[in-house]
Amino acid sequence: MPTGPRHVAIIMDGNGRWAQARGKPRLFGHQAGARRVRQVVEACPGLGVKYLTIFAFSTENWKRTQAEVAGLMMLFKHYITREARALRDNGIRVRFIGDRVRLEEKLVSLMDELELMTADNDLVHLTVALNYGGRDEVARATKRLARDVAAGRLSLRDIDEETLPRYLDTCVLPDPDLVIRTSGEARISNFLLWQSAYAEYEFIDTLWPDFTPEIFARIVRGFARRERRFGAVPG
Ligand code: FPP
Repeated sequence: MPTGPRHVAIIMDGNGRWAQARGKPRLFGHQAGARRVRQVVEACPGLGVKYLTIFAFSTENWKRTQAEVAGLMMLFKHYITREARALRDNGIRVRFIGDRVRLEEKLVSLMDELELMTADNDLVHLTVALNYGGRDEVARATKRLARDVAAGRLSLRDIDEETLPRYLDTCVLPDPDLVIRTSGEARISNFLLWQSAYAEYEFIDTLWPDFTPEIFARIVRGFARRERRFGAVPG
């Protein structure tokens, strides 16, 4: 019996082009993109998607203009403030992954607060990757792992492929089954590198602000028809 993806991860790309096509500033596209997030989260329970992980800001995104970075940070703060109660009341548990060190204090405290206030929810687990990069995550995890070895809490002999994931930001999450990237680019751009080793990928041309719950449903149902073998021969 084919099953749907339990964990879907999304690279939400194309906000800038969507805005440019309308003669608007890039931030206008990010605002439209933020509105889509709620619709996609709300579609999850009906599609059997228990975990949704979205790429909101990468470690490379700091290279954008100062105005765009500041606009995005403002947007994240507004979004958290505005959506917090609805997320809590709708059974969504929110987590953030990525390096918080470079984020402003006010944003980090809103993130902490939202995590705390949704900590008892279990309908959908929404993970927002903010100042996240897969290589950066592995580097930070390795540092923590090395610290445990140096302190004698972990022995070299016991390290295997189950060890590193326990140190990743995603340690409490299952691996993604399906990774979707919008806007026509067929790249993974440093997103969930370790975790996506066996994920299916879906690259679609739709720009993120045009990504409707119907498109999401079609992709999720399409996944259920594929056969995943994890390197084994079908039995
Ligand atoms: C990619 O489009 C999008 C981003 C870098 C930001 C993603 C942010 C949102 C969708 C805003 C809301 C998110 C949350 C969690 C509130 P792009 O700017 O790279 O588009 P382009 O490739 O057309 O330039």
